Amino acid sequence: MIAKIKQLLEEVETLKAANAEELEALRIKYLSKKGAINDLMADFRNVTADQKKEVGMRLNELKTKAQERINILKESFENQDNTSYDLDLTRSAYPINLGSRHPLSIVKNEIIDIFGRLGFSIAEGPEIEDDWHVFSALNFAEDHPARDMQDTFFIESHPDVLLRTHTSSVQSRVMEVTQPPIRIICPGRVYRNEAISYRAHCFFHQVEALYIDKDVSFTDLKQVLLLFAREMFGAETKIRLRPSYFPFTEPSAEMDISCNICGGKGCPFCKHTGWVEILGCGMVDPNVLESNGIDSKVYSGYALGMGIERITNLKYQVKDLRMFSENDTRFLKEFEAAN
Ligand code: DAH
Repeated sequence: MIAKIKQLLEEVETLKAANAEELEALRIKYLSKKGAINDLMADFRNVTADQKKEVGMRLNELKTKAQERINILKESFENQDNTSYDLDLTRSAYPINLGSRHPLSIVKNEIIDIFGRLGFSIAEGPEIEDDWHVFSALNFAEDHPARDMQDTFFIESHPDVLLRTHTSSVQSRVMEVTQPPIRIICPGRVYRNEAISYRAHCFFHQVEALYIDKDVSFTDLKQVLLLFAREMFGAETKIRLRPSYFPFTEPSAEMDISCNICGGKGCPFCKHTGWVEILGCGMVDPNVLESNGIDSKVYSGYALGMGIERITNLKYQVKDLRMFSENDTRFLKEFEAAN
C-alpha cells in the first residue's frame, strides 16, 4: 500500500492540464468520491494495526498534495481567463486628450512670428526688477506718478526692488550690454497695483519691440506698424497714429487700427468711432540711449509696446479679462481649433 501511495504522490506532484476540462478530469481521477485517493482510503481499514500510523500519515500527505496541486492549476486557469476577457489587444487605443495652448500664448507666438520675419529676435528680462531698469534708465522723472505705490508693487523692506510694470525694462537690460544694431522683441508678464475687474488685472502681458541702428527714422516705424497690423488683423486693416507722450520716446504716438469687429463702420466695441487703440510707440528718446551707453549722435531707434490681452480681445472678443487667468477648461477648449 505504501508503494501505491508513493507512486500516486509522484504522479500528483507533476500533474499538468492544458485547459479547465482536463483539470476537472484530473480532479475526478484523484480527488472525487470514486477517485484513486478515496479508493486507498477505503483500503485503509485493511491495513495492519502496526502500519496504520505511517500509512495514515502518508495518505493524508497525498490528499493534501493532490488538493494543493489541483488548486495551483485552477488558479493559473482563472488568471488566464481574466486576462483573455479584460485585455483585447485588437482594440484601438484610447484617444489621449492633449492640452491646447492658452489664447495668450497663441497670440504671443503670432506676434513673435510676425516680428521674427522682420528680423527681430527674442530678448527676455526679469519680472522682479529694480527702479533703474523700469523707470530711471527710461527717462522717467523722479516724481513720475508710475512710481507711486498705487501703480507699482514695491517690496516694502526694499524700495528699490519692484515688480516690473512694463516690458520696456528689457530695452534697458539689452542696451546696457549690446551695441547697435539692436532688433529685439520682448514678450513677458507685467504687474500693476490695480483692482481686479473684467477690464483690469494686477498682472497682464506685453510685447515690446526695439530697433536701434544708424539712420532709423519714424518712416521705418510706421512701415513696420502697418505690416504688423495687416499680418495680425488682415490685409484690409488700416492704421492711424495719434500724438501721445511716453517718457522714453520722443516723438511718441499711439496707434489705432480700424475696428476689426465692425470693419470700421462703428460698433459698441470701438465706441462707434470705427477705430481701436492697440499700442504705444515712438522714437527712442536720446536721453534713453545715453543713459544706457549708446551714442545718440550716431544712433537712433524706435520702440513700441502692446498688451497681449488687448490684441487677444480684438482677435477673439474675450469680454472679461479674468477669463485669461482662471484656467476654466471650458474657456480654454474654445481655442483648441486655433492651436
Ligand atoms: N511701456 C508702455 C506701457 O506699458 C508701452 C509702450 C509705449 C512701449 C510706447 C514702448 C513705447 O516701447 O514706445 O504702457
